[in-house]
Amino acid sequence: MYNNFENVLICDHPLVKHKITILRDKNTGTNEFRSVVSEISMLLGYEALRDLPLKDVEVETPIETAMCPTLDGETPALVPILRAGLGMVDGFLRLLPTAKVGHIGLARNEETFEPEEYYCKMPKDLGQRKIFVVDPMLATGGSGAAAIDFIKQRGGKDITFVCIIAAPVGLEVLAKAHPDVKIIVGTLDRELNDKAYICPGLGDAGDRIFGTL
Ligand code: PRP
Ligand code: URA
Repeated sequence: MYNNFENVLICDHPLVKHKITILRDKNTGTNEFRSVVSEISMLLGYEALRDLPLKDVEVETPIETAMCPTLDGETPALVPILRAGLGMVDGFLRLLPTAKVGHIGLARNEETFEPEEYYCKMPKDLGQRKIFVVDPMLATGGSGAAAIDFIKQRGGKDITFVCIIAAPVGLEVLAKAHPDVKIIVGTLDRELNDKAYICPGLGDAGDRIFGTL
């Protein structure tokens, strides 16, 4: 847990820590990298989905009739930030197969490190849905903050951001820019280098997921 910001949760589960170590290893190949990203996404998704609303429904068990909890409310939306966020979709959808999926295409300009938008397609009625924005890496925080700005401009209100590795500076930027957004982080790394890569990090998440190194 990380106490500097009320809206931030840093995962302290040993399985998440173990699996992130596999991602960090430069000898982990594309196939294993993708699978482990998906597994970590399920574990972080489990935490992120903790606040889903419930209602009671009547169920006939083999023993008796009982009132039992089932998910309630508008179907949530999952929004991966392209490209690397796509790697987290499968794990989330295994937990919540009916989720709507929006896409935001943002790429960092490698000279200014500023995010540039190249695609956006969102499910309708964003304002009525819980929205889970996923991206493995939170480095300067520029992409995450811009994606959430964009979702809010389209009516999104109840937003959770989920990443696998964050740098302290990016976490602070995002938490300050969007204090109403819950942030779930797999692990917090030391710092950014002069190319705005996370150290020790795992390298370029998109390249490692899609084998474009
Ligand atoms: C990576 C990553 C984030 C962003 C984080 O994407 O997946 O979206 O960088 O950096 P920031 O916090 O400094 O904005 P990238 O721009 O490399 O695009 P890709 O997913 O297409 O590889
Ligand atoms: N994006 C990545 O994929 N990796 C980093 O370390 C920083 C941004």
